[in-house]
Amino acid sequence: MEKLIVHGGAPLKGRINISGSKNSSLPILAATLLTKDTCTIRRVPDLSDTNYMVRILGELGAEVERASGVVVVKAEKIKSVAPYDLVRKMRASICVLGPLTGRLKKCQVSLPGGCVIGDRPVDLHLKGLEALGAQVTVDGGDISVNAKKGFKGGQMNLMGKHGSTVLGTDNVMMAAVLAKGTTIIEGAAAEPEVEDLANFLIKMGAKIQGAGTNRIVIEGVKELHGAEHTVIPDRIEAGTFLVAGAMLGDGVTLKRVMPEHMKSVTDAMIKCGFPLEITKDSITVRPNPNAKGFDLTTLCYPGFPTDMQAQFCALACVINDSSSITETIFPQRFMHAAEMKRMGANIEIQNATARIRGGAKLKGAPVMASDLRASAALVLAGLVAEGSTEIKRLYHIDRGYEHLDDKLAALGARVERAQDRS
Ligand code: UD1
Repeated sequence: MEKLIVHGGAPLKGRINISGSKNSSLPILAATLLTKDTCTIRRVPDLSDTNYMVRILGELGAEVERASGVVVVKAEKIKSVAPYDLVRKMRASICVLGPLTGRLKKCQVSLPGGCVIGDRPVDLHLKGLEALGAQVTVDGGDISVNAKKGFKGGQMNLMGKHGSTVLGTDNVMMAAVLAKGTTIIEGAAAEPEVEDLANFLIKMGAKIQGAGTNRIVIEGVKELHGAEHTVIPDRIEAGTFLVAGAMLGDGVTLKRVMPEHMKSVTDAMIKCGFPLEITKDSITVRPNPNAKGFDLTTLCYPGFPTDMQAQFCALACVINDSSSITETIFPQRFMHAAEMKRMGANIEIQNATARIRGGAKLKGAPVMASDLRASAALVLAGLVAEGSTEIKRLYHIDRGYEHLDDKLAALGARVERAQDRS
């Protein structure tokens, strides 16, 4: 296993390019299963999650080639079964459910387990597929979906008690594009990644309206054809570097971003007093020693993203004021807090709210990465801490941040990857 050693205190300065979105790439790669033709997806980030999705496509029978961010898929003949051994390592592999059912009218996909950030049920995915006329059973850890006479358009509401479901909306959209008739998804997730998937499906010949809002209307078509697509920039990677630049920068510029996807994050930073310069495709951030604390609540898009909650906990530690963040999407998602407290952070968790008293001097310590964004928060804390921080279980970061250590080093951070033999 590898670990990341962060030597704190080196100011960050310069420009970096933001990678393509992980959360767009995964369902878009899965969507290539919907056609026999060749699809070309550009700007796919080099991550263990995208590598894993490429492997799943190959195991399902697709021919896949990958070279420097471009993935070419031809899924002429595919299998309808994705067993546990194939999908167990990545929860997001659930997004093959929609395309397999869409294309083959039946499938069997192993049920994903819970994970460290919460329970993570898939009831809304299944409710959506049932509304398209499928018979859905869960047995022996597998989800089986069957629509003997083919899928029919249907109406459903995908709003759950913690908001709408992103991958659930993706799955139902991918099943509905080849259904007979019209499907209406109320309570749909409006995240930019859902809209990006819809844009790819539209290029393949699908008829979709309203993606990017809470009501999506899909007119089923007989078949889809090959298409080319470039995925949108990763707004969470960009947000993470914005926080890094605010914590200890001397001017960090993010290039190749879409600031319109990051408004809740940039608005929150501006409200704290961090100076941002925003252009059409770049954002520059500088620290502010007099920044004010914040009170934030995570919400579905366009609200403040749960995937930025841990990083803002790290930011709150360097603001000489009190802050709070309430988590409504994954109320148990505070694994980073205990590790940051070991570094000297003053964080209290009450129910689903983290209260942070900033200004405490952080000190480097060995810490354990628990999930992707929690790990990113530990890296951020390590960047400002006195001394060295060792972040163990680096594979969590490699799931979702493309070459994080190289990008940080390019900005002047002192970071090194090492084998962890402990
Ligand atoms: C996606 C993102 C993840 C992000 C999350 C919320 C990908 C690959 N991952 O995950 O980074 O943190 O959105 O923005 O895109 N829920 C149910 N029933 C369901 C499905 C979900 O109750 O059938 C609940 C979940 O437990 C959670 C909430 O709905 O409380 C949102 O989850 P969801 O949007 O489905 O997360 P993912 O799509 O898995």
